[in-house]
Order: sequence, then structure tokens, then C-alpha cells
Amino acid sequence: MNPSIETLREEASKKIAAASALEELEQLRIDYLGKKGSVPALMQSLKDLPNEEKPLFGKSVNELKGEISSLLSDKKDELSASVLNEKLQDEKLDITLPGSRYLLGKKHPINKVMDEAIEIFKGLGFSLEEGPEIESEYYNFEALNIPDNHPARDMQDTLYLPTGSLLRTHTSPVQIRVMEKQKPPFSFIAAGKVYRHDADVTHSPMFHQIEGFLVDQKTTFADLKGILETFLNQLFHKKISTRFRPSFFPFTEPSAEVDISCVMCDAKGCRVCQNTGWLEILGCGMVHPEVLKSVNLDSEEWQGFAFGVGIERITMLKYGIADIRLFFENDARFLNQF
Ligand code: PHE
Repeated sequence: MNPSIETLREEASKKIAAASALEELEQLRIDYLGKKGSVPALMQSLKDLPNEEKPLFGKSVNELKGEISSLLSDKKDELSASVLNEKLQDEKLDITLPGSRYLLGKKHPINKVMDEAIEIFKGLGFSLEEGPEIESEYYNFEALNIPDNHPARDMQDTLYLPTGSLLRTHTSPVQIRVMEKQKPPFSFIAAGKVYRHDADVTHSPMFHQIEGFLVDQKTTFADLKGILETFLNQLFHKKISTRFRPSFFPFTEPSAEVDISCVMCDAKGCRVCQNTGWLEILGCGMVHPEVLKSVNLDSEEWQGFAFGVGIERITMLKYGIADIRLFFENDARFLNQF
């Protein structure tokens, strides 16, 4: 047997057996069987042989070609199968595994309490009004009988814009805006964001208020007290005692600050109420004649009451939250508890 045929056979079978990838196998096919490969080269050498050797040599080369072809095709099948297996393994999907959960958004506790409060007031016959968060000095102060030199106008508390407008410091300017557009009698609430230059565990530069406003021909301080007590009992789902302390607001006269019996300790005395059993919760009073005058209403004919409640404050009390900043950190672990 021709030694070069034998060498080639051995070398090819070793290399084909060792091939580990389809690309490698394809290169071997080109090396051995391709146009310029070793087997066709052997066939080329046929012409240089003596005539009597030609038939046997030709037959042997053809056999070698057949063997290499079948080795290549067997190996190709083997490698293709393992590629497929690997792919199947990689793409295996265990449909019995628990799926990944979508985190559901929830209503923010502030919005929750705000909506609850709005619903209660709607039930008491109040409509819902709105006003802009960017206000003028006129609506935020002047029309509400807050004179030029009043401390509430101080740059310390009010956030002014370069244009001379300001971020409303309370929802009370909505009183004026609604009275300018509608005719008395009035009974509405205004809910929304307000802004003050103030920040600590109980104050945030942006917070929420609900303003209540009722003007009619016969309204008394007793109506105010009744409305507020009904509201508080419904909001806290229990009987709340109130205490009205004389206070001062330029836009109400008389004015009062309202304390409620401490909802944390049921008025027994705790850290939150500083052992007094009372919590200060809102400001209110009878609408000042000057306020009615600023929208050309006759205060001899019309009178009423107004109040302003801080939503963060009552939400903190309702849920026992000690730090106002928690509301605005957007920590899902906190927000998901409500
Ligand atoms: N606007 C007052 C404040 O923000 C609250 C208030 C509203 C008081 C209406 C009396 C009447 O402090």
C-alpha cells in the first residue's frame, strides 16, 4: 500500500475524531477533500505513476476519499446533535417556577387621606374647588386682609418667584377666586399643595391643605363647630373631642385654633401630645368682613366661616407616622404599608 495514502488516512481520522466544533470540521473537509485539498492532490500524482500501478493507486485514493467523507459526515451529525442539546439546555424553561411579580402601585397615604376628607365634605354638601399653586400677592395676602407688613409675608416663610409671583402659602386664596366668579351662598372646599420656607420632622416646604369655606345669610360659629366635629369623627372613625382656643388670622374674626383629644393615647397623655391629651390640628374662624368687602359682598347680609386643615398632620396622626419626610422619600417599603 502507498505510504502517503496510509499516513493521510491516519492523520485525517485522528483530526476528525478530535474536532470539537462544526467550523473546525468544515475546515478539515476543505483541507482534505476541497479542490486544493490533500486527496485531490494525491489523485493528481496518479499521472506520474507507471501505468501498471495506476489502477490500484486510483482505487485506494477513491477508497480514502470515501472513508474521509463518511468520517466527516458521522462527526458532523455528532457535533450537530450536541449543539442542539446545548441549545435546548440553555433555553430550558421551567414552567413550574413561580413567575416574577409586578409591583403594583398604590395610592400615596397623603392622597388617600385627602380623598377620604374630600368625600366626607362632599357628604356634608361642600363642592370641590381648585386654584393655582403659583399665586399673586393680591390673592395670597392682600385680598385676605393680610397687610403689607404682616410677618406671614416675610421672605422667610414665603417662596417668591423671580417674576414677583409666589408659591401660595395656603389654600385660602381660593376663597377669593371662587367668590369673584360665583354668587353667594358658598359652601366649598379647596384641596391642594401649599409651600413654605420651612423644613424639619414636622414641616415640609411643600405640604397639602384642605380649605373649607361656607358663606350664607345665617351662619354661626356653632355651624363651624358642628361641621368640624362631624368631619373629625368620620375621618378618625371614633368620637373626637375638640377644644377651640382663641387665635388670630387676618382673614377671620373671631379666629380659633382647634385641638382634638389625642388620637394616639385617647387623651391619656403620651409623647405625641406632650402629655397634654390634646393635639393642635387646624385653624378656623368666621370670615372677616374685609375679605367679603374685597369681592364686593355686603357683610351685613352675608357671613360665614372658613377653616384650613393640614393633610400631612392628620395623616401622621391617623397612621402614627413620626417623621413628615417619610411621605416624600418614595420608599416603596414605607408606601406599601397603607
Ligand atoms: N390659611 C390658614 C393657614 O394656612 C388656615 C386657616 C384657613 C385659618 C381658614 C382660618 C381660616 O394657616
